[in-house]
Amino acid sequence: MNEPESVEILTDPQIEQLHELYQGEWWSKGRSLEDTRDAVRNSSLVFGFVEPLTGRLIGFCRVLTDFTFRATVYDVIVAPEFRGQGLGQRIMKSVLAHPRLQRVGSITLACTKLMTRFYERFGFSTMPDDVVWMRRPCDAA
Ligand SMILES: CC(C)(COP(=O)(O)OP(=O)(O)OC[C@H]1O[C@@H](n2cnc3c(N)ncnc32)[C@H](O)[C@@H]1OP(=O)(O)O)[C@@H](O)C(=O)NCCC(=O)NCCS
Repeated sequence: MNEPESVEILTDPQIEQLHELYQGEWWSKGRSLEDTRDAVRNSSLVFGFVEPLTGRLIGFCRVLTDFTFRATVYDVIVAPEFRGQGLGQRIMKSVLAHPRLQRVGSITLACTKLMTRFYERFGFSTMPDDVVWMRRPCDAA
């Protein structure tokens, strides 16, 4: 395979391919195509990796940030048949090297305990024991 190329704007077919990738993961299954399009449009930064010959989206993540104090990485994902070849690491390196994130105070992400080793190699560490992520479903009473 040729080296995947990086893009920061997704075409309509690439958004459809992202939507398909989302259907394969427990944390993104069921997201609609329309919501996927909106989420991509409204993200601060988008990192797409595409096959050069076909333009097919095979790697992705997005960042929400104020470009100053905080940034959060979401939806790191590689197409199943391209996993284990270094693309996930390339995605993370691209995020951390992005010029607009260089002055951000701290970058956070949420992941399963199993995945912590993957992110530790990029300098991420778990929160101090007395700090936890909290969330509230938007339809909560
Ligand atoms: C996580 C993911 C992006 C990694 O992409 P990738 O291209 O396969 O990663 P790379 O080839 O660059 O690196 C592979 C490393 O990640 C580790 N890794 C990959 N998936 C893992 C998992 N589910 N749990 C633990 N470690 C994992 C591998 O053990 C490997 O480590 P090694 O280099 O020590 O062997 C990819 O597996 C994926 O898309 N997973 C499904 C989506 C997901 O769960 N994303 C994470 C959200 S927090």
